[in-house]
Order: sequence, then C-alpha cells, then structure tokens
Amino acid sequence: MERKITKAIIPAAGLGTRFLPVTKAMPKEMLPIVDKPTIQYIVEEAVASGIKDIIIVTGKGKRAIEDHFDKNFELEETLFRKGKFDLLDKVRACSNVDIHYIRQKEPRGLGHAVWTARNFIGNEPFAVLLGDDIVRAEKPCLKQLIEQYEETHSSVIGVQQVPEDQTHRYGIIEPSSVNGRCYGVKNFIEKPKEGTAPSNLAIMGRYILTPEIFSILDNQEVGAGGEIQLTDAIHQLNKIQKVCAFDFEGKRYDVGEMLGFIRTTIEFALDSKEYGTDTVELMQNLLQQRAMTSLI
Ligand code: UTP
Repeated sequence: MERKITKAIIPAAGLGTRFLPVTKAMPKEMLPIVDKPTIQYIVEEAVASGIKDIIIVTGKGKRAIEDHFDKNFELEETLFRKGKFDLLDKVRACSNVDIHYIRQKEPRGLGHAVWTARNFIGNEPFAVLLGDDIVRAEKPCLKQLIEQYEETHSSVIGVQQVPEDQTHRYGIIEPSSVNGRCYGVKNFIEKPKEGTAPSNLAIMGRYILTPEIFSILDNQEVGAGGEIQLTDAIHQLNKIQKVCAFDFEGKRYDVGEMLGFIRTTIEFALDSKEYGTDTVELMQNLLQQRAMTSLI
C-alpha cells in the first residue's frame, strides 16, 4: 500500500570526535552556525518538507538537544517582561515542533542508530536526515527526495557530485543506469581508496527508506570502522528492492568536520540579514590588517 512520508529519524548519538575537545561535554549537533545550532537547521528542513513526526536518536551527554527544543517558561517570561519580542519569537520558534527522543545506549554506528528508532517508525517508509550536512535549496532537499519516492515508491538516497580528489572521504555509488537526476545503483563503496572510486557521486545525509531496512539491520554485521554501517544495509536492500540515488539540487554545507564548519559559519554570517554587512566589513578589516602585517 502507498504510504506518505510523515516520519523522520535524526541520528545524533555520535561522539563527534572530529570536534574534540569542544564535543567532550557538548553535543556536536548543538554547535552554532551563527545564531542557531546545526540540528535546528535539520529540524527546519524536515518540517518544511512536510514531516510531522521527528525522532532524534540521542546518547550520553546530549541533554542540551532536548532542552533546546523544549519550552523554557522562565526565559520566555523574562523576555516578555522586558519587551524583547524579537528574541521571544526566536526562542518560541525552537519549541513549536513536537520531537520524540530515544537513546542509543552505545554509539555502534549510524546503521545501529537508525535501527534503534524502528518501533517509532513501524511498517512505513520514513526519512533519515544527518546533521553533518546542511543544504540550502529553493525546494528543501528532503522534499525533493520525498517527491522522487512518490514517483517510484522505492528507497531514495541523496547524492551530489564531489571533486574527484575528495571521493575517499565519502560513501560513493557505482551507478548502473540514469534517468534524469535518478541513478540506479550497482554498488555502494564506503570511503574508497584515493583514485579507485567508480564515480564522483557521494552519499549525503538524506535518505528515504522503506521499512524492510529494519529486518536487514536486525542482522547487519559491523563494517568499516567497527561500526554497523547504514550504507552496508542499503547495499543489501538494493538487492531485493531497487534503491534510487537522487542527485538533489541545492548547495550543501559540510558541517561534520572542522574546516567545513568554519567555512559554513563564515558563509552564513556573510549571508545573514542581521549580521551580513558588519561581517563583510569585519572581514575586510581583518584581511587588510593581515596583508599589512605581512608586508612589514
Ligand atoms: P558521524 O560519523 O559523522 O558522527 O556520523 P560522529 O560519530 O559523531 O562524528 P566523528 O566521526 O566522531 O567526528 C553521522 C551521524 O550519525 C550519528 C552522528 O551523531 C551523526 O549525526 N551517529 C553516528 C549516531 O547517531 N550513532 C552512532 O553510533 C554513530
């Protein structure tokens, strides 16, 4: 039976080791891009794509995520009393969506994190969004994938082309066919060795999956990095149901590693209505000062 995609899983139980020491006591998903934590951009994309129920997979030390999306009565009261209504609106916007939480007791990998939410999803297709990728697009990235799913009713994974010399950092697909922006997949290769990737189509953090993935994950063995890999399970799924790799439109920002995070922060600050003009001036001054110092 045809089902609409209304549920999404946001896995957020990883250790965030690439950001240590900042992530020792603070969830990587709460690191701010200008004035919002990265996970808020992800939740906003899910809501803008028509998702009604969100479950965040959390773990040890992730309480700040729940607090962020909860109502903060004392704070709202204070802002109201002081007449700071613009800030009040921003604070309220964080808590006007209902989010469910489940704990992954140990960070055993992305595949295991998705499997942890299986009872919440039940027997219907669902979305997965990873906080490592923020996508700015005219039509939200997840909505593009949902529309593709509605055409074919098979699982869809978001991909984008990356430079050839970057393929070793990603899960890469080996395409078997192409129809518009949708590729049939022959093989999924997790982080291929440099120069060996069969294409430059890299798996980004957006998926629509059919519930059959859970029975595969029930028995999924550990893969790369000693973790239960979602990519391995999707490879198995592709053997019994066609999986489409969809080359989505939009600009993707990699906030899962430090340099990508710094770059995204700068770009979002430059584009910000509130801080953009000042940021341009600030950066021009800083760069000028640097150029002058290097001449001395
Ligand atoms: P990453 O590998 O990018 O996240 O996993 P990480 O493990 O937190 O980061 P590093 O590599 O140590 O720096 C992709 C997504 O899957 C989640 C992460 O929270 C992240 O959103 N994840 C990963 C889990 O929820 N559980 C896991 O066991 C592993």
